[in-house]
Amino acid sequence: MKEMKNDMELTFDAISSNEGLARVAVAAFVSRLNPTIEELADIKTAVSEAVTNAIIHGYGNIQGYCKHGEALETIDKESPGKVRMKCQLEHGVLKVMVEDQGRGIENVEKAMEPLFTTRPDLERSGMGFAFMEAFMDDLQVESAPGVGTIVRMQKKMTSGPWIPSEE
Ligand SMILES: Nc1ncnc2c1ncn2[C@@H]1O[C@H](COP(=O)(O)OP(=O)(O)OP(=O)(O)O)[C@@H](O)[C@H]1O
Ligand SMILES: [Mg+2]
Repeated sequence: MKEMKNDMELTFDAISSNEGLARVAVAAFVSRLNPTIEELADIKTAVSEAVTNAIIHGYGNIQGYCKHGEALETIDKESPGKVRMKCQLEHGVLKVMVEDQGRGIENVEKAMEPLFTTRPDLERSGMGFAFMEAFMDDLQVESAPGVGTIVRMQKKMTSGPWIPSEE
């Protein structure tokens, strides 16, 4: 049987409650490949980390992430901003892209170092990128200050096939 390509795209408001939406959406998207429980957990964690980063760091929307649920800052803007998640399945490889048009990252290399965080006040541990790297097979981060950030991740699903079929 010819393996079919599948694409999906989801755009949502940059608010904490939509992190769950992104997790469930990517899980549902890969479900036809019969992922293992571990694969599913890895993918959902990696996607959560990228989406949380877009919400908290990209747009500075920290409601729902604060201690005891209290807001340390209020959203003083018309709209929280949008996060765009694109997923693609082809030849048993999942590609996920998480994009925001938030403040961007000054030094991507530094930001990706384990334990580096610019929000210790929120008790972030600086492990988001490290988890994405550990749980996925490939991680690419593209960012520009004032423009936004794009995180691209890939994972080979154990159910394969990873070699493109000859039609
Ligand atoms: N989408 C983004 N927009 C702007 N800055 C970002 C974005 N994603 C990450 N960063 C920057 O990179 C740093 C490291 O991100 P990382 O996810 O590894 O750690 P963290 O979010 O600070 O902590 P944790 O993920 O453990 O809660 C962040 O503190 C932030 O400064
Ligand atoms: Mg993070």
